[in-house]
Amino acid sequence: MASSPDQTHFITTTHRSSLLFSLFLAPYLLSIVASASHLYSGVEDEKGVRTNLFPEVLRDEAVARLVELGKVSDVDGYLERTFFSPASIRAGNLIRGWMEEAGLQTWVDQMGNVHGRAKGKNESEKALLIGSHLDTVIDAGIFDGALGIISAISALKVLHISRELEKLKRPIEVIAFSDEEGVRFQSTFLGSAAISGVLPVSALQMPDKSGVTVQNVLKDNSIEISGEGLFALKYDPESIWGYVEAHIEQGPVLESAGLPLGIVKGIAGQTRLKVTVRGSQGHAGTVPMSMRQDSMAAAAELIVLLESLCKHPDNFLSLDGQCERSMMESLTGSLVCTVGEISCWPSASNVIPGETTFTIDIRAMDDLGRQAIIYELSNRMHQICDRRSVSCVIERKHEANAVGCDNGLSSQLKSAALSAMKRISGEVVEDAPVLMSGAGHDAMAMSHLTKVGMIFVRCRGGVSHSPAEHVSNDDVWAAGLAILSFLESQL
Ligand code: GLV
Ligand code: MN
Ligand code: MN
Repeated sequence: MASSPDQTHFITTTHRSSLLFSLFLAPYLLSIVASASHLYSGVEDEKGVRTNLFPEVLRDEAVARLVELGKVSDVDGYLERTFFSPASIRAGNLIRGWMEEAGLQTWVDQMGNVHGRAKGKNESEKALLIGSHLDTVIDAGIFDGALGIISAISALKVLHISRELEKLKRPIEVIAFSDEEGVRFQSTFLGSAAISGVLPVSALQMPDKSGVTVQNVLKDNSIEISGEGLFALKYDPESIWGYVEAHIEQGPVLESAGLPLGIVKGIAGQTRLKVTVRGSQGHAGTVPMSMRQDSMAAAAELIVLLESLCKHPDNFLSLDGQCERSMMESLTGSLVCTVGEISCWPSASNVIPGETTFTIDIRAMDDLGRQAIIYELSNRMHQICDRRSVSCVIERKHEANAVGCDNGLSSQLKSAALSAMKRISGEVVEDAPVLMSGAGHDAMAMSHLTKVGMIFVRCRGGVSHSPAEHVSNDDVWAAGLAILSFLESQL
């Protein structure tokens, strides 16, 4: 297991706050716990079903914490937290405090992942990991990632207060991963991939937009990490039982089904590319249209090509040589492609751009189909660039194959979700929807280490990666209660 670095900024800051905690807050909290323990202890009916729903912790406090975390941003006016940014460090400290308050032993590893662990009855048993990410996209909503962290901490807090943490049959560890969105370095899962052992040492040399590498960022936070240090973060698969993640659906299926929770069957594979088009920089008023090598106009044609290819892959791939029928059907149903970022040089209204750079994000359930699309896309892009006499370099920045969730874990999570929905609504829900995820999740990286399972939580209008992202208070409650029900199967 990864050990805690001694000199991270997180730890230094937390030492100060733990002094404050022991002097002023601990006696106060202890008195609350003592007086409230009867409240949380869980009432059982004659069949042994716990009827206490813990709304104070799983709904009210969880929602308040989501809102509080949603204010921890690197910019005024919208939410943004990227790998090791000042706000990410503040968010990590906040989460660590909540983990400690839930009775967990905490530490921060050298990639900025925040861990909170309950030993349970038998420390040497294989551990259950539960997590999600603390970073965000730019102009983000407050639930993506944060909901999975908070619901896990809240569920463990209920067990702590009812003195059941010690009764868990295996260690349970919550991990708030430092990078899932990949906004700063384009390569996603820096945190979870380090723990699952699939982050290559070369990732330390990746630069962000201003040329600062991952290694520089860590150094600035007093973390010296070598290839060996990175390897040491990898968990031993023999010590892990499984990984579970609750996450907002980020799509409309649960809302249209009228249910707060669903189970994830699998996660689409994804590729991120960076395309650099180089033409000839020139005067916007003097170079005739027929004599231009305009990198921006070329990029526009490439982007429209991408859209056509991904809307109608069947018009571009031949069924015989490139693609089997099942692959084509899967691509037609799941392929999505996005250009989310574009910039040009020198970026002035009276200059023909000499260089244009843009990103491409391609996702599909079928990995071979995704590769066939990338092959076709690159060939056609080079043809366009040749015709326009511009150069075109396509780099792969990130690659993750599709992941299937474990059947056993999924059926346990389904029982937990059904039980949570019944406990909240009082009505029996016959079945929980089973969904595929187009969004990437830390579970993808963790699948290289252990079996994974995920619960999806309804979000309004299916909107995500937007400040309009919203989960109702009761659905936050349902998520926490489902994780609690799942943990109860570990007692
Ligand atoms: C993460 O949210 C992703 O799917 O890009
Ligand atoms: Mn996201
Ligand atoms: Mn997410």
